[in-house]
Amino acid sequence: MVVRNRLQFPVPTAAIVSYPLVILLLPMSAKSATQSVGREIEALRDKIRYHEHRYYVLDEPEISDADFDLLMQELKKLEAAHPELVTPDSPTQRVGGKPREGFAKAQHSSPMLSLDNAYNEQELRDWIRRVYELSGKNKVEFVCELKLDGMSLALTYSGGQLARGLTRGDGTTGEEVTSNVRTMPTVPLRIDQKKLGAAGLPPDFEVRGEVIMPIKAFQRLNEEREQQGLSRAANPRNAAAGSIRVLDPSIVAERRLDFFAYFLLRDGTALFPNHSESLDALERAGFKVNPHRLRTADVEKVLDFINRMEAQRDKLGYEIDGIVIKVDSTQMWRQLGFTGKAPRWAIAYKYAARSAVTRIEDILVQVGRTGKLTPLAALRPVPIGGTTVKRATLHNQDEIDRLGVKIGDWVLVERGGDVIPKIVKVVEDKEHPRGTRSFRFPTHCPECGGKVVRAEGEADHRCVNAKCPAKLRESLLHFASRGVMNIEGMGEALVNQLADHGLVKDVADIYSLSADKLLSLERVGKKSAENLLREIENSKKLPLERVILGLGIRFVGERTAELLAEHFGSMDAFMNAGLDELQQVTEVGPRVGEAITEYFSEPRNRELVERLRKAGLQFAGQKKHRGTKLAGKTFVLTGTLPNLSRDEAKKLIENEGGKVSGSVSKKTDYVVAGSDAGSKLDKARDLKIAVVDEDGLRTMLG
Ligand code: IVH
Repeated sequence: MVVRNRLQFPVPTAAIVSYPLVILLLPMSAKSATQSVGREIEALRDKIRYHEHRYYVLDEPEISDADFDLLMQELKKLEAAHPELVTPDSPTQRVGGKPREGFAKAQHSSPMLSLDNAYNEQELRDWIRRVYELSGKNKVEFVCELKLDGMSLALTYSGGQLARGLTRGDGTTGEEVTSNVRTMPTVPLRIDQKKLGAAGLPPDFEVRGEVIMPIKAFQRLNEEREQQGLSRAANPRNAAAGSIRVLDPSIVAERRLDFFAYFLLRDGTALFPNHSESLDALERAGFKVNPHRLRTADVEKVLDFINRMEAQRDKLGYEIDGIVIKVDSTQMWRQLGFTGKAPRWAIAYKYAARSAVTRIEDILVQVGRTGKLTPLAALRPVPIGGTTVKRATLHNQDEIDRLGVKIGDWVLVERGGDVIPKIVKVVEDKEHPRGTRSFRFPTHCPECGGKVVRAEGEADHRCVNAKCPAKLRESLLHFASRGVMNIEGMGEALVNQLADHGLVKDVADIYSLSADKLLSLERVGKKSAENLLREIENSKKLPLERVILGLGIRFVGERTAELLAEHFGSMDAFMNAGLDELQQVTEVGPRVGEAITEYFSEPRNRELVERLRKAGLQFAGQKKHRGTKLAGKTFVLTGTLPNLSRDEAKKLIENEGGKVSGSVSKKTDYVVAGSDAGSKLDKARDLKIAVVDEDGLRTMLG
């Protein structure tokens, strides 16, 4: 079963949990039977409303999307059997969810609809046949697009400027998330007259599309959340939908959301005679339109596109859950019309679920680079979406407790944005069958026998032995990986051999490898030894930030390493910086600062850094000269500035040494307020903090 967007109210494929059937044992009159079904329906509606509120309004769902879908399906079934009991306020009678408090609400120019689904080739062919019948044609051009798994958004441009961003909400009324939309780099804030003209666009129009969170950004978000002791986002769709509705735009800006445009409207109707022209026009105007699209009248080519994209699904970098097939002619759209909440001129071909039910045969423990112990479920192998899944991550003890899993349990496993598949839940009707047993974290490291500790307030268990071989292997893999020192060929197999033969005891040893040493290993030939040595040599040219990242200091990821390199300009300045100085660096707080000073307080680590210096790695960097006009000043941005996006204003402030914070407090020096400034402005006035507008900010920036 796919865990899908609740906004769509999809038709689930297979039920995993079966709800008890109401068995009427006593003979009953037709009237009282209807009354009892009526009560059942009302109870179910209440339950659904409760979960909708938790999901949309509070952002704190209590049950999985799959379970929610089941409740909805049950209600639909009952209502279908008793149409006389359907009421307009039933949760089945609307397109989506309720906008949550905190954003202004606004009407859509025309309803944002959902799509009907086809689950197999036959259903798709049936739909195409209906299109032929209704249009009276036997050849119709279609446009095939990816069905992006995110959240739909409607953007209004007026005079070529982004005027408003609205979520779908209930399809008729959405939430105004304009300041958040402005933080998304793939949304043009303004399109100049020339570009509009070249694209054939008027100055006033509306674009609809999908906001998504790329898988990399999703993984990064979850890593950060885990480090902060927060729960992980379930999947990229939830993360995208949640992020666009975060009340603080400066947080949204960090989420790396992406927007793909797939609709162009004016006054609620299509602007061009063909949909493909709309997509091309949007692209020319500067919107991101997904490049994987196909215009064809050939049904076989449609099917081929569906299959080809399914095969590429894992390589896209973002999640899709199917293919949308639209009739190209927008004139024909009018002719075909709608069925209830979905147009007849489009259909979503849904890919098979990427989840399955299987059994946990064992729970193993893996030791990472920082010594973190990760519990991994060894699963009874099960095919999911083209690969056989044997392992799923359980993250940590808290996750095991939350899921309530035991060895021997039957579980629902999902392949999604995470690197390793994850366990969604214990399958209830098979819960804890005979022979299950609880998992306990080992007290000693399974790799080296070192002591395992779980520090106060932390979710993770760690091996404290500095010489743990598992840590060595993981730190070598991290160091050599693409985004770090990019030593191609130094994968898991070679790293294991190097570590097992004692040829490499830390990352600096990589630079004393020779052809002779490499050739002493099994399966390493002359050619591959030469290639590897060349790769190692090349890595010496990589900039300081990569070297800092390669050290594998806790909490120092890509972005932090970059900021540190930029701030200090050399390894020496960095490694000798005290806690206060480290915290001068944007985004470095006490936790990261302490991790860094702790790292360099260890003589062994300093020694390692010296050996890297001798090997010839880049220890000097480009000190990016930040201005000092706003040094030491903290700013808070609120409302919409006339010419600057949040991100732009933030960059300008930071480039002059200022800091941008999300909330107003006594520590705030200035509040920069634009139009529609909200509670932050009130608070600034209460606290008597200086308020400036965009012009004021520009004056300060000189
Ligand atoms: S067309 C009336 N095109 O799927 C037309 N939708 O199930 C509806 N979606 O709410 C939108 N990729 O959030 C369209 N290329 C695409 C899409 C797409 C993803 C989503 C969208 C919509 C849902 C409908």
